[in-house]
Amino acid sequence: MSKESYEKPSIIRHTIGTMNEFGRPSGQKRCEKIDGISVEQLVKNHGSPLVVFSEASIRKRHAALQRAFELRYPKVQIAWSYKTNYQKAICAVMHDEGSFAEVVSEYEYEMAINLGVEGKKIIYNGPHKPEPSLITAVQQGTIINIDNFEEVYLLEKIADSLNRTVEVGIRINMDTGMYPAWDRFGFNLENGQADEAAERIMSSKKLKLTGLHSHIGTFILEPRFYQQAVLNLCGFAGRMKEKFKIDLKYMDIGGGFASRNRLKSTYLPTTDLAPDFDSFAEAICSVLLNSFPKDNLPILFLETGRAIIDEAGYLITTVEATKRLPTGLRALVLDAGVNIMVTSFWYDLEMLPVQKKSTFLEDHVVFGPLCMQIDVIRDLIKLPVLSKGDNLVIRPFGAYNTTQWMQFIKMRPAIVMIGMLKEVDIIREAEDVSYLHQKDHLPERFARKTNGKNSKLLPKHLKMVPDKKKIIG
Ligand SMILES: Cc1ncc(COP(=O)(O)O)c(C=O)c1O
Repeated sequence: MSKESYEKPSIIRHTIGTMNEFGRPSGQKRCEKIDGISVEQLVKNHGSPLVVFSEASIRKRHAALQRAFELRYPKVQIAWSYKTNYQKAICAVMHDEGSFAEVVSEYEYEMAINLGVEGKKIIYNGPHKPEPSLITAVQQGTIINIDNFEEVYLLEKIADSLNRTVEVGIRINMDTGMYPAWDRFGFNLENGQADEAAERIMSSKKLKLTGLHSHIGTFILEPRFYQQAVLNLCGFAGRMKEKFKIDLKYMDIGGGFASRNRLKSTYLPTTDLAPDFDSFAEAICSVLLNSFPKDNLPILFLETGRAIIDEAGYLITTVEATKRLPTGLRALVLDAGVNIMVTSFWYDLEMLPVQKKSTFLEDHVVFGPLCMQIDVIRDLIKLPVLSKGDNLVIRPFGAYNTTQWMQFIKMRPAIVMIGMLKEVDIIREAEDVSYLHQKDHLPERFARKTNGKNSKLLPKHLKMVPDKKKIIG
């Protein structure tokens, strides 16, 4: 029998079993399995920390979004927001579900093309679209939403040089009653810039306005803000019809629906706060149906990101150390920090023990492994008493973490996806030091000094070798 680990006793207030206005606190949940696969087994096979995606969950949320809108509006098209998560396998699942690609950089554009997405099924957004990528986009019939006047002029030039008419959309920002309003992208409605942009486009011989785009913000908990945005867009479309006799082909309302993560400032969990897809769909589609004739409805594009993918992602971590802080709080040091959990800065991510523990819960602070004061994943959370080697599953983890994460002090871990047949595929390998060395160059003069003395101790692929091609002089 193994010996129980010892920890010096401390006195804390006992809260278990007491009632509050919501009733008796529920017991601590655990997460032994993800999609039927044992978490301990996943760690054994792939190490810790480990990011896990559930293909079933992605497909379920994508289908739920599609269904909620299709039930109410006949022309709906989802476009997967690459920046929310651009692992190839994740994008491939989205495209398999019928999503177009929504990209905001030349690299994302390339990724979509490499995954076999046709140019005309890509929506190209963003405040900076380099000229070569815009030329390709025009040639491939991509849906382009213009962000600023410089882009209008550039597209006029491209259309001229290719000697063709280019259909474009414009991004519009506006006051929807939401605070703060996102006003840095696109043309403002209230100050007349959106009208000016449309005038300029329609007066140019080579561009044609065919769509409107707005993305009013992110993690939006109120469908009424979308309702106001769509009302404004429809009003604008009406003016375009009067002025230029054009029927717009699409209305793109961007992304922004809240996922079931928990914002730090909210008292109730977002599972109780976040409207479902039906509520958003009702608010949006009712305005569209009332604004256009039934036989001439524009396509409704949705660029929903976090609300599809967030819950499909998990991060498995391991407790590496425990501490008692001067405040009296117990602390855990995990093997995964804020560099791979960027969303922990604004979410209270859920943390579920894997192994069976006592039902007694204690307030904890949870740190990551970085030698940085800011590496705090939860500043206060009730957890059972865990020991070194115990696992915690952190969720929802699917949105923005694996695109915004950074290699800092620690390398980024592997990502696996559990498929529909419970197959576990590695969709991104764990990084090691060779990942850094790929782009890092040691000039010959330094290499001569160090000349690999210590690197003899390292395996060949990790040795610091000067790059001959980069030597100057
Ligand atoms: C233009 C655009 N579309 C879609 C999205 C996806 O937003 P979300 O993940 O909040 O649904 C974003 C994210 O910021 C965006 O900028």
